[in-house]
This record gives sequence, structure tokens and C-alpha cells, in this order.
Amino acid sequence: VDQPEEGGIEKVESARKVKIGFYFATWWFLNVIFNIYNKKVLNAFPFPWLTSTLSLAAGSLIMLISWATKVAEAPKTDIDFWKSLFPVALAHTIGHVAATVSMSKVAVSFTHIIKSGEPAFSVLVSRFILGETFPMPVYLSLVPIIGGCGLAALTELNFNMTGFMGAMISNLAFVFRNIFSKRGMKGKSVSGMNYYACLSLLSLLILTPFAIAVEGPQLWAVGWQKAITEIGPHFIWWVAAQSIFYHLYNQVSYMSLDEISPLTFSIGNTMKRISVIVSSIIIFRTPVQPVNALGAAIAVLGTFLYSQAKQ
Ligand code: 3PG
Repeated sequence: VDQPEEGGIEKVESARKVKIGFYFATWWFLNVIFNIYNKKVLNAFPFPWLTSTLSLAAGSLIMLISWATKVAEAPKTDIDFWKSLFPVALAHTIGHVAATVSMSKVAVSFTHIIKSGEPAFSVLVSRFILGETFPMPVYLSLVPIIGGCGLAALTELNFNMTGFMGAMISNLAFVFRNIFSKRGMKGKSVSGMNYYACLSLLSLLILTPFAIAVEGPQLWAVGWQKAITEIGPHFIWWVAAQSIFYHLYNQVSYMSLDEISPLTFSIGNTMKRISVIVSSIIIFRTPVQPVNALGAAIAVLGTFLYSQAKQ
């Protein structure tokens, strides 16, 4: 039996850490760019159902071209795969459109502060719907998460109920998405990248008829003309950027899920929110009261305590 070269295991381990670090940095960077362009688009063109659909359409198109040109190997799927993907796609669609509706109504930072409360939803759903129990420190970590989000919501200068509820619905939907996706990915032969590609395709099919019903081509045409007149022809590049970056950050996040545990993933997701909250406050000059910032900081700290308690 070949013995591993001296120091070989350490080398493999440090190469893995560099790879994961690279995934995380790319994921956060792509996510910040997505959030900025998404909000710029929504400010000029307040049609979140269409922009959500375009994000999924861009991802679907990128992946269909990658498969056709053999840049990426197409996954081998069967009917059971698509059946198990359906609940994941439904939850992904609801979570995505709800977050985008939220961001069309409130500051990006506010949506992400509320979204930092996702672990609380995860524990409550697991406890009351799935009957799972957790050690006491996990429940205690929910106090700063819920308290911090509550404080930030109560002191938000531009509070809007639709914006708040959109972020809350997104939290709930993404908890179900993660539960279903963990079940669906078990023993899978499809890579993280292709799993997310299939998720985009199915979500696009689910969302398109609803987007047409809720907003529809007539409103879109009028809104588009207005946006082009106000912003100029380069508005189309903003739309392209928000759609493409949405796909890219999600693809990288699913690729990193292949390498890391769901827990490390959720810590990465919380750190991602800090970079989005800070950069969007700077870029959009969002007014923040000290007590509001305190609420956000407590909520984010709570999610760190939660990840520690889960360990
Ligand atoms: C979306 O539009 O789907 C949300 O902004 C995504 O939220 P996430 O930060 O949890 O990926």
C-alpha cells in the first residue's frame, strides 16, 4: 500500500482551504454586485416579478449554452430527479420573488438584516413542524437574533410592511428550500453547479406564468420606456448585470456546498450579509440611526452564536 508522501495530507488540506476561501470570497463579491445592480434596476423599474424571472432566465440560458457547447457536462437526470427537485424549486421561487419584492419596497440593508434572522426560522420550523429538538444554547441564540431583527425593524426609518413581510416570507421559504434540497441532494450524482442549473430551469417554469399574471407585458412596456428615458440606453446593462450576477453567485454558493457542511455554509451566508449590508449603506447612502445599527449588529451576532451553539 502506498504511504502518503510526508506532509502530503497537510498539503491537500491547505489546498482545500484555499479553494473554499476562494469560493467564499467569490460568492460574497458576486452577491454584493448583484444586490447593487438589483436595487439600481428596481429603483428605476419597480417590477420585482419580472426582474426575478429575468435572473432565473439568464441562469437557465447560460447553463443551456454551456451544456450545448460542452463547456459544462450536462447532468444525467431522470423523472425521479425532477420530481424531488419540484418542492425545492417551488420554495426557491417563492423565496427569490419575496426577497426581490422586499428590496423593491425597502433599503437593501433592511431586507438583509431581516434575512439574517433565517436561522431562527430554521430552528422554529425544525422544532414545530419536523419535531426536532436542539440543545438549550441553540434556543438561547434565537433571543439576540429575534430581538436584534425586531429592534432594527422597529427603528427602521423607511419601514414598509410589504418590504418586511417579503423578507420574512423569503426566510421561511428558504428554510424549506434547504430542508428539501438536503433530502434531494442525498446520494445524488448531479454536481452542485448542475443541481443549481436544474433548479433555475424549473423555477423559471414555475415563476413565468405568475409574473405575467401579477405584473404583465403591458405594465412592463410602459415601465421599460420610462426607465430608458430616465436612465438612458445603458439601463439594459444594469438589467443584464443583476440577472447574470444572480446566477453566478448562486452557482458558486451551490459549488461550495459540495465542499462544506451546511453549517459552514450558513456561517458563510451570514458573513455575506454583513458585506451586503455595509456596502449597500455606503453606496445608496442609506440613512441609519445608531439604535437601528445596534439592532442589526445584535441580530448578526446572534447568528454567529447560533452557529457556535449548533457546533
Ligand atoms: C433573492 O433574490 O433570491 C435573494 O436576494 C437571495 O437571497 P440570499 O441572499 O439568501 O441568496
